[in-house]
Amino acid sequence: MYNFDKVINRKQTNSIKYDREKAQDSRIIPMWVADMDFETLPEVKEALLKRAEHGIFGYAAPTENYYQAVINWMKDRHHFDIQKEWIVPTPGIVTALKLAVRAYTHPSDKIMIMKPVYYPFDASINLNGRTVVECPLLFDGEQYTCDFELFEKQIIDNHVKMFILCNPHNPIGRVWTRDELYQMGKICQKHHVYVISDEIHMDFTYKNHNHVAFYNVDESFKDFTIICTAPSKTFNLAALQTSNIVIANKEMRKMFVDEKNASGVNDPNIFGLDACEAAYTYGAKWVDELLVYLQGNIDYMKDFFAEHLPDIKVIDPQGLYLVWVDMRSLGMNNEELEEFMLKKAYLWLDEGYIFGTGGAGFERFNVACPRSILKQALEQLEKAIKERV
Ligand SMILES: Cc1ncc(COP(=O)(O)O)c(C=O)c1O
Repeated sequence: MYNFDKVINRKQTNSIKYDREKAQDSRIIPMWVADMDFETLPEVKEALLKRAEHGIFGYAAPTENYYQAVINWMKDRHHFDIQKEWIVPTPGIVTALKLAVRAYTHPSDKIMIMKPVYYPFDASINLNGRTVVECPLLFDGEQYTCDFELFEKQIIDNHVKMFILCNPHNPIGRVWTRDELYQMGKICQKHHVYVISDEIHMDFTYKNHNHVAFYNVDESFKDFTIICTAPSKTFNLAALQTSNIVIANKEMRKMFVDEKNASGVNDPNIFGLDACEAAYTYGAKWVDELLVYLQGNIDYMKDFFAEHLPDIKVIDPQGLYLVWVDMRSLGMNNEELEEFMLKKAYLWLDEGYIFGTGGAGFERFNVACPRSILKQALEQLEKAIKERV
């Protein structure tokens, strides 16, 4: 059994979560950026120590074992069959999104995203001189769905060239179903829209929700889609910047690789390659236990709100370790809510409004921490809310 209850001090470790100005007040619990407060699995540490021990860090490239580990993980965990040639390693998914934007669209082209969504999607589009077209998700007070009519209308009206899909969807926690993905894919196919499917959270799904890789929805989706995968969320390796972009279509792969070369983007570094290979080779049991622990944290949080703060709505996550919470009943504007969380509840969360349309009044909690920390955070929040005048 792995011990996810262990509290590890992350202060003064050059962590953006713990060491930035905003977290300097020792009462503040940082629950914002999506990295976990858990140690990765022992085999990853061993692989990195072995590499460090060797002491020579010359130029390196992904090995046959590396590719095989990626292929096996995708097949075993997701019934996702990929071929070695389809894999393009990149140093991170945000980097890959930017490369895809440049590879498949022209300046001033329109790119669609479903809001609220992971905010670097906007930046990847805007920083490259393309324009964001929004398709806001529908929210019925309980759960989010895609507005398919609007989805197609926005594509037609704006001559959209690319759709960036987030599956599972950060921050709202939806694991899109095969049927939903089919509808999205078919609309994109009909209107010649490239799909970039960001599946970085693929390994985090709960209960009867299963991740469906976009290529598994329909064979023909391989013709206009790329799939972004990474071990970084799953095994807490974000700083090692390693991701694997799966591109089945030869022409699309060439366009992406050409852009990668032109932009001067290299393969992941040797530590990232070693960690990815070890994680995918030895990590199945660790992830199984992690998912049980995370489900326990999510249940704890839902029960806590139901019992102590029933006016605040926790959106039940189908996936991710990020929990989206509707705080609109507190009646605060963006600045007031942010200030309240930091200065009264001593919580550093990701503010809902930064995820764009539909996000105001919500907060995103990262619950990938020992339960004792989560408990402390929720108690701080309850105290602050109850003391409010
Ligand atoms: C949907 C999504 N894509 C990409 C990333 C970051 O990927 P990377 O660190 O590989 O750039 C995150 C991190 O939270 C994310 O939630």
